[in-house]
Amino acid sequence: MTIDLAALPEDFLWGTATSAYQIEGAVAEDGRSPSIWDTFSHTPGKIDNGDDGDLACDHYHRWREDIALMRQLGTNAYRLSIAWPRVVPGGDGPVNAKGLDFYDGLIDALLEAGITPSVTLYHWDLPQVLQGRGGWTVRETTQHFASYTAVVAERLGDRVKHWTTLNEPLCSAWIGHLEGRMAPGLTDLTAAVRASYHLLLGHGLATQAVRAAVPGAQVGIVNNLSSVEAATDRPEDVAAAHRLDGHTNRWWLDPVHGRGFPADMREVYGVELPELPGDLETMAQPLDWLGLNYYFPSTVADDPTGPAPHVRTVRRLGVPRTGMDWEVGADGIERLLLRLTDDYGARKLYVTENGSAYPDVVRPDGTVDDPERTEYLEQHLAACASAVRKGVPLAGYFAWSLLDNFEWAYGYDKRFGLVHVDYKTQKRTIKGSGHRYADIIRAHGGRGRSAA
Ligand code: IFM
Repeated sequence: MTIDLAALPEDFLWGTATSAYQIEGAVAEDGRSPSIWDTFSHTPGKIDNGDDGDLACDHYHRWREDIALMRQLGTNAYRLSIAWPRVVPGGDGPVNAKGLDFYDGLIDALLEAGITPSVTLYHWDLPQVLQGRGGWTVRETTQHFASYTAVVAERLGDRVKHWTTLNEPLCSAWIGHLEGRMAPGLTDLTAAVRASYHLLLGHGLATQAVRAAVPGAQVGIVNNLSSVEAATDRPEDVAAAHRLDGHTNRWWLDPVHGRGFPADMREVYGVELPELPGDLETMAQPLDWLGLNYYFPSTVADDPTGPAPHVRTVRRLGVPRTGMDWEVGADGIERLLLRLTDDYGARKLYVTENGSAYPDVVRPDGTVDDPERTEYLEQHLAACASAVRKGVPLAGYFAWSLLDNFEWAYGYDKRFGLVHVDYKTQKRTIKGSGHRYADIIRAHGGRGRSAA
């Protein structure tokens, strides 16, 4: 498939993304304390096959090899997350020098390899000790998050300019506190709404902390947004689609854009927000950029008896689906990029995650052929380029993921990597999609050429 690469800016960031708990392993090494994901993954029945992140991709020891893979792909950026429990094992208080040293060395090596690091401060691995004190449901956690952020920013800020406060706070709040499918595994609407509020407050405080420590910092937040359609024209289904849009998109976007929390959703949840004067202003720190994580579109119908937001997903027939059983729909990424530009006035956007899981196999000749992932990648990149032609200020794309990794409650069976990982031997093999990504990056670098 043809991708209009000439549409993309010359200094476009071509990256891959990962997160600490999904790849690092070494959970008990060098002073790291347990996070809520260690607890959750070791709770029987929570993770498919009883998997956990204890070893994962052993990136903590193999990071040099992983940077070499990035070089082979030709990427010029890498989105990683810092494990809070490595850096401040007590959640607040003493800093663990060895934890910081690990990231320090990683950043130096990335820069040496010509790869721009993009650092995420929170990708779901809250120190368990803070969960014991209420986690994101209590205000104190926002202050602890700001203090930990200051520690990281002060240490890495001379070299890292690209900062993300939170990755997908929706998952932390809604999936972790309401649906119970992620850590900390609660099913409590009040806890979920309070957590959502404190996460966004934490985002504001962390933004201030990064800016105080890092001159020229570019700070943003990353949301997994959904492009939502109503299953029918029935007013109930149209209203349901609006509610899911509120739950997935507006609840996360409006407060950071100074619009407060959407009134309709406050009514749907019926939970009092733990609001104090000045909080909304803190949440609405000016953003240097917005990050979009996009995987699939959603079609929904009304479900008055279901839990908030009272919608049910409708399966569209005849539409391809990934190994996650997620619908493939690249037009959704274009629609969302346009909406962030037109409705939210975004001045700079990144696709901070996009990718697909399929059950890959290593062939006898040692290669991994993954035509479906390659097609998914091409379709979504083509949609991004089309959005740029329409005026979207897209500055980069980060494929999820560099490596197959610990896919949370699904364990290791769901493989999102451009690079295959054999978990028994830790052998890495660049998949066909990884080679295609490298070709695309090269073709864009070639400029003059208009398509790949
Ligand atoms: O693996 C996750 C990642 O941690 C956050 N975004 C979605 C990915 C795929 O589910």
